[in-house]
Order: sequence, then structure tokens, then C-alpha cells
Amino acid sequence: MKIALLGYGKMGQIIERFALERGHEIVLKVTIDNQEDLTESNLRKADVAIDFSAPDAALGNIYACFDANLPVVVGTTGWYGQLQEVKNECLVSNNALLYGSNFSIGVNLFFHMNKLLAKLMNDYPAYEVQVEEIHHIQKLDSPSGTAMTIAEDIIANLDRKSEWVNELTGTPFDDVLKKEQLLIESHRIDSVPGTHTVVYSSEVDEIEFKHTAHSRSGFALGAIIAAEWLEKRQGFYNITDIFNFK
Ligand SMILES: NC(=O)c1ccc[n+]([C@@H]2O[C@H](COP(=O)([O-])OP(=O)(O)OC[C@H]3O[C@@H](n4cnc5c(N)ncnc54)[C@H](O)[C@@H]3O)[C@@H](O)[C@H]2O)c1
Repeated sequence: MKIALLGYGKMGQIIERFALERGHEIVLKVTIDNQEDLTESNLRKADVAIDFSAPDAALGNIYACFDANLPVVVGTTGWYGQLQEVKNECLVSNNALLYGSNFSIGVNLFFHMNKLLAKLMNDYPAYEVQVEEIHHIQKLDSPSGTAMTIAEDIIANLDRKSEWVNELTGTPFDDVLKKEQLLIESHRIDSVPGTHTVVYSSEVDEIEFKHTAHSRSGFALGAIIAAEWLEKRQGFYNITDIFNFK
């Protein structure tokens, strides 16, 4: 498979390593310093694009791929406010896009178990729930896309929560939390690749459900598996469409 890498930072470089190991070829690398290379003719040299760039770059990259009819896997987070618009454009133009707030298999297992747990906790109202995420200090968006997925899955399955609010440590948070609000606490610490915890606490005890990424390798491998899956497809997909957890 010939791959165009849109974004060649921490993730793009690991993806390149895994892609070469799996016998793929990198035919284009676009960073903030060579955006002029993001042309239709360059994109047409690839079978699939993988975007791990920046929240404000993702939309332009996605539409460039649509113009070149190139399937695109989008790992970049922080652009989901435009999700519906992108989905419509993808379907109208008969293109292919797969996105995911987290490409690691472990986190996708975690997502699945989080939904089951939230459903179960409907019967145990004594437990208050909260989501915590820790990422490296260079991370641009807050809360993490992964934490948003976790929170939205809790809200969809736990009747006593209807919206999430975010508190980034170090920034003022004056709101008083309402009963129906789910708090996502974001922490930015050194070089942490990504830790997510769901905590259910009652007066008598606490249940912690936690995923810790040891490195970025799980995200990178998942992104290549997603690209292999998407290459011959059309349509708008989420990473969860690849997995078939019962
Ligand atoms: N979905 C997942 O599993 C997952 C996992 C890790 C990171 N991410 C997300 O992926 C994105 C990239 O993460 P990273 O750690 O590699 O970041 P990074 O800062 O190390 O690299 C970003 C890359 O994007 C490039 N870039 C920035 N603006 C650009 C533009 N306008 N046009 C083209 N390229 C541009 C930079 O030059 C750089 O090469 C972030 O949004 C991050 O949250 C997602």
C-alpha cells in the first residue's frame, strides 16, 4: 500500500516505522513546513492517507483528500465540532474516511467495557462518576478526544448523566457541578502518552477503571490496520466499525 502521511510529528514518525515493517511504502509526508506539497497530484500517488497533524490542519487535509478521491484515516482530534459536515461531504462525494479518538486496540476494548459498566451502574445510584485523563504537556486539545468518547459513552448508557464538563488543572474552574453533569478532569504532565480513568465513588468505596498507554506504538499500529481496512472501501467510518466486540 502506498501511504501519504499528513503530519509527521511524534505519531507520523512511529506510523512510518510500523508501515515500513508491514511492507508499505510512504510516498508523501506533509508537515507545517511543506504544506505546498499537499496537492491533488501528490495525493493521487497514494492508495490511502493517514492524518495525525493538528486540530486546525485536519479539515483542510481531509478536504484535500476528498478532492483527490483518496481514502483518509484521521487520528487527529480536536475537530469533531465539524464531524457532521465532514460526514455529509464524504458521503456526497463518494469518498472514504475513518476517524477515531483512539486507535489502540486496548482503548477500544476499554471503550466497550466502559459502556457495559455504565449500564450496570444505573442500578447503583450511590456511586458518583468522574473521568480523568493525563497527557503530555504538548497536547493542544482538552479534554482529550479519548476522554470525550469515554464521557459520551457514559452519558449514553447511564441515565443520571446528561452532559460533560471539563476541568483542566491549572485553569480556573468556578462552576458548581450539577448532579447531571459528568466531570472530565484533564491533567498535563511531562511526556505521558495517555492515561484514562473512570472512577465510580460512593461513601464507602471506590471503583477505578483505568487504561494506561505505555507508548504511542498502540495508536500507530491501530492507524495502519485502519488504513489497510479502509483502502478498498467507500463511506464514513469510526474505528469501532473495525472491531466486533460482543
Ligand atoms: N487517534 C489516536 O489514536 C491518537 C493518538 C495520538 C495522538 N493523536 C492526535 O494526533 C495529532 C498529532 O499528534 P502528534 O503527537 O503526532 O503531534 P505532533 O505535534 O508531534 O505532530 C504534528 C504534526 O503535524 C504537522 N502539522 C501541524 N500543522 C500542520 C498543517 N497545517 N499542515 C500539515 N501538517 C501540519 C506538524 O508539522 C507535525 O509534523 C494530535 O491531534 C493528537 O491529539 C491521536
